[in-house]
Amino acid sequence: MSVSDLFEPLSLLHGPAMRNRFMMAPLTSQQSGHDGSASTFDKEWIRQLAHSGYGLIQTGAAYVEASGIGFERQVGIHCDALLPGLTAMATSIREGGGLSAVQLHHAGHRANPDLGGVVAPASSRTVPGVRALTTEQVERIRDSFIAAAVRAERAGFDGIAAHGAFGWILSEFLSPLLNDRTDKYGGSTENRARLTIEVIEGIRRATGPDFQIGWRLSVERYGLRLEELREITADILDRELIDYLDLALWDSAQIVREGAFRGQTMLSVFTSIPRRGVRVGTAGKIMSAQRAGRLLDEGCDFVLIGRAGILQRDFPLQVKVNPSYDSPRVPVPAQYLRDGGMSERFINHMRGWPSFVQRASV
Ligand SMILES: Cc1cc2nc3c(=O)[nH]c(=O)nc-3n(C[C@H](O)[C@H](O)[C@H](O)COP(=O)(O)O)c2cc1C
Repeated sequence: MSVSDLFEPLSLLHGPAMRNRFMMAPLTSQQSGHDGSASTFDKEWIRQLAHSGYGLIQTGAAYVEASGIGFERQVGIHCDALLPGLTAMATSIREGGGLSAVQLHHAGHRANPDLGGVVAPASSRTVPGVRALTTEQVERIRDSFIAAAVRAERAGFDGIAAHGAFGWILSEFLSPLLNDRTDKYGGSTENRARLTIEVIEGIRRATGPDFQIGWRLSVERYGLRLEELREITADILDRELIDYLDLALWDSAQIVREGAFRGQTMLSVFTSIPRRGVRVGTAGKIMSAQRAGRLLDEGCDFVLIGRAGILQRDFPLQVKVNPSYDSPRVPVPAQYLRDGGMSERFINHMRGWPSFVQRASV
């Protein structure tokens, strides 16, 4: 395959096809209103992305319950009052010709009490002095994910992506280290996957036939076990419960260091699973046209663009005109990001990421 194959459309099990293989990765920019409403900065960021040639654009992690907030100035989807801002973002993406998805998020044991979050661990051993969620509370959170998806549909989004990565609640429940429950949500692999599956199945039942469901999975840290995650993924793909799997790797070329898959690429552990009609893509240092194209050869149906899209919003359009396109080297001066249309708030947020924004000389 070649770089030009990235511009082939990609059908999904539900709803319209992606016009190409570029998906904008979920990026929290910490520039929303304090109540979770989409700010003018959010809307402008989405407007820029909407005209940048992506096949599908995910929003940053949006909290599904007020108590599930993880970050300051995070975008929310926990109540109907947020619909106008969400609708504006969905409309803007549609006008640009791409598909849209809200990333649904609950911070679980990492909810931030300073922002109104309520620490919600799967186990009583994770956070000293905080008891594990009761079964009823877990079911309430499941229902909040489902209600948020319905809200996303009302706002005009083509779908949602369930955030099952980085130790947030769905990922936390998958982990044998963070989940020692003895109810139906803990114990066996099947039980630890139950919350994720119930969220996905509940969203499918509650939304229309064209609504698209993505699932983001990470495999590192938080006591997650690769072999188990592969087993859970194989079941989800075999039952075609989702439209797309988004692998949240930090490096798409990462090699497995231990266990049954030692020496293989992490990506191949998942691309080798029979996927039926489900589409599979990865994130992780996709900074050039050539790298993006090669990932199709490695078994991806699509690629997720994160930092390359922050550096150059219209990464897909750049790749289209130049099959040798390569991202600017980081760190970049703040002025470079400013000139690219990035807000001061987002630039400040990016100062917290290693080696991304040049430090001002003293
Ligand atoms: C500023 C920033 C914000 C991010 N926010 C989110 C988020 O809200 N949800 C999520 O799942 N991942 C988030 N990520 C991870 C990215 O979606 C992506 O998986 C990661 O950056 C690797 O891709 P890249 O190498 O292309 O940047 C964020 C990454 C960055 C740099």
